[in-house]
Amino acid sequence: MLVSPSLLAADFCHLEKDIEMINHSQADWLHLDIMDGVFVPNISFGFSVLEAIAPICTKPLDVHLMIVQPEKFISRLAKLGTYMMTVHYEACPHLHHVIREIREAGMKVGVAINPSTPVNSLESIIADVDMVLIMTVNPGYGGQPFIEYSYKKIEKLRELMAQSGANPIVQIDGGVNTQTSVLAAKAGVDCLVAGSYVFGAEHPEERIDYLKNL
Ligand code: DX5
Ligand code: ZN
Repeated sequence: MLVSPSLLAADFCHLEKDIEMINHSQADWLHLDIMDGVFVPNISFGFSVLEAIAPICTKPLDVHLMIVQPEKFISRLAKLGTYMMTVHYEACPHLHHVIREIREAGMKVGVAINPSTPVNSLESIIADVDMVLIMTVNPGYGGQPFIEYSYKKIEKLRELMAQSGANPIVQIDGGVNTQTSVLAAKAGVDCLVAGSYVFGAEHPEERIDYLKNL
């Protein structure tokens, strides 16, 4: 299992301390949530924070853009050394083109779908992406409960992958905890994003180990 702790739930007054914890943990990536107050009803952090984090984080950066027109930021994210750039299906009318631009900039490509977007929407681009992110809460806030229908969406994505022969990483984001992670693993997830479950714990590394060993 790949584990990508979401910095959104970290202590913003002591980000360096939390990033050092991630660096020393079994986490595979660091998940960074960018929100614009337009695509989602909240604003998180932007490039000044990303630029402070990138040089001190030893884990690959998994950047989740919950913004309209994410293509505007492809070259800046590439320059930062972003490993995975994930854009929302719902935010990209020319998704096929955006996917190609991200790849040409040297990054891995992720495409995220909101809870109300069916998995079949990805049929025509599934072979072109490195990761599919199934949102298991409505994007915008940490700490929300996992949407139960998501297990079925993970299974449907696995079916679509089998039919198409494509093999992107299957990531979920939102409401991951001790229980939902087990059921999601059973449904076929490869990568868990976890915010409050990790950073809200007294011993975050133990939570990361638990998810890592599912
Ligand atoms: C929500 C973000 C998530 C968030 C998850 O819109 O995309 O990455 O940090 O938070 P938890 O794990 O607390 O649900
Ligand atoms: Zn996220």
